[in-house]
Amino acid sequence: MSKLNILIVGASIAGPTAAYWFAKAGANVTVIERFPQLRTAGQQIDIRSVGVSVMRKMDGMEEAVRRNLAPMEGMQLVRGDGRPIATMNKTGDAEQQSLVSEFEIFRGDLSRIMYDMTKDQVMYVFNEQVTAMHHSADGPITVDFLNGHPTTVYDLVVACDGATSRTRAIGFDCAVRDHVVSNHYWAAFFSIKDDLLKGSLMGQAYTTIGGRFLAIGPDPTGINRVTLQSMHPPTKTEKDTTRPFREASKAGITALKTHVAERFAGSGWQWEQIEKGMMATEDFYASESVQVHMPSLSKGHFVLVGDAGYAGGPTGMGTSLAMAGAYLLAGEIATHKTNLSAGLQAYEDRMRPILKDLQKPPPGVTTAMAPQTAWGICVRNWILWGVTCVMAMGPAFSWIGALFGTAFAGAEKYDIPDYEWEVSSSS
Ligand SMILES: Cc1cc2nc3c(=O)[nH]c(=O)nc-3n(C[C@H](O)[C@H](O)[C@H](O)COP(=O)(O)OP(=O)(O)OC[C@H]3O[C@@H](n4cnc5c(N)ncnc54)[C@H](O)[C@@H]3O)c2cc1C
Ligand SMILES: *[C@@H]1O[C@H](CO)[C@@H](O)[C@H](O)[C@H]1NC(C)=O
Ligand SMILES: *[C@@H]1O[C@H](CO)[C@@H](O)[C@H](O)[C@H]1NC(C)=O
Ligand SMILES: *[C@@H]1O[C@H](CO)[C@@H](O)[C@H](O)[C@H]1NC(C)=O
Repeated sequence: MSKLNILIVGASIAGPTAAYWFAKAGANVTVIERFPQLRTAGQQIDIRSVGVSVMRKMDGMEEAVRRNLAPMEGMQLVRGDGRPIATMNKTGDAEQQSLVSEFEIFRGDLSRIMYDMTKDQVMYVFNEQVTAMHHSADGPITVDFLNGHPTTVYDLVVACDGATSRTRAIGFDCAVRDHVVSNHYWAAFFSIKDDLLKGSLMGQAYTTIGGRFLAIGPDPTGINRVTLQSMHPPTKTEKDTTRPFREASKAGITALKTHVAERFAGSGWQWEQIEKGMMATEDFYASESVQVHMPSLSKGHFVLVGDAGYAGGPTGMGTSLAMAGAYLLAGEIATHKTNLSAGLQAYEDRMRPILKDLQKPPPGVTTAMAPQTAWGICVRNWILWGVTCVMAMGPAFSWIGALFGTAFAGAEKYDIPDYEWEVSSSS
């Protein structure tokens, strides 16, 4: 097999994971990233289920992740005056994860670990993006770039540029929002300089009327990590309820912060300190929660991995799906050697059953996060209090865990094979 030339677009989670495995298969890999440097913003993300399986196959990865775990011991749901309603602890067991995962790591740290593991094997080009792709009849794709990277022919182009992938729009000749389904909420993530948790490693979450969710998590450096979520259920007259958020988003970071501040005004609890911190922070990231559902993950020799192909939205599985997808794609391409279309088909066949399960949010989780009314909050608090009490009683009540279904799904259910990564010597 001659050496495959592969272009990967996006250097967050899916991109570097794909780069790792394609390099292992002996391919010639280039990764481009739209931003001028690796993006390190974001809060805790979970590695669960199939993500844990793939992490354990990467040399030294689990150790690196364990060294960088977010320090949170659990999460407490509190009332406006700070009194706890329910406490969710970690289980202390990676195979038996609770609502708080054993592998919670700051997104920027995970991205950095993956970048460090691959930067000597593959070429990273920052501040670059694709402007056009010309598919040839026998497969290879000629790619033009925006900022001066020379036009190049690739055997395979892998889009890992997130839920609103522009590369997907170019490759599938569709609009950016085609195949994107809104979950009717958005979230903002940022750090603040004040330690509102006063040294505690237990995170705190608070919800108030209007579907507003606020959470503060600890950080080893003494600052706090804040997550805000704002729910916007569709009404009879308005379906596209997150449009104002997207418009503020387009208008730039200051407009977006102002939009968030207006939405959370009057929340109570620690909102005033959080707002001060948000206005001053430099690592602000906010995005609408969406799912991506594609009829097909590839077109010719162009293929989607991670959020670009199957964003999971509120399932909390996005990162794990991205890691598993990158591994399965590289493994199937390596296995089918001379026949790329057979490899792409095998990737699709492996992903479909996983997506069918893991793209499904656990029932009621989004409404449970942030009810709209005072009565809804009251009911939710009682249910959550009950669930956490029962879960603390252990395996005898594991059927309660089953209610949350996919969030706890073990990986053994899905076939994540060990591939032969033989490196071809001919070229
Ligand atoms: C800065 C940032 C912060 C995040 N914070 C959180 C968080 O706190 N909690 C959470 O649950 N999820 C967060 N996410 C999303 C989370 O990383 C993903 O849902 C998941 O890990 C799957 O990752 P992905 O690699 O498929 O896509 P993403 O993580 O969305 O990464 C896409 C990458 O592609 C780059 N890119 C975008 N467009 C182009 C283009 N046209 N050309 C080249 N490169 C492009 C982006 O800059 C980014 O690096 C964040 C994502 C980013 C980029
Ligand atoms: C690898 O890819 C780079 C960039 O596309 C190219 O310049 C180089 O010639 C390729 N190397 C081989 C061995 O194909
Ligand atoms: C959670 O952990 C804390 C301290 O580690 C402990 O006091 C508490 O009882 C635990 N709660 C549950 C529900 O297991
Ligand atoms: C490649 O695989 C496809 C689908 O699996 C098959 O139809 C085709 O005949 C194969 N091509 C070659 C050259 O083997």
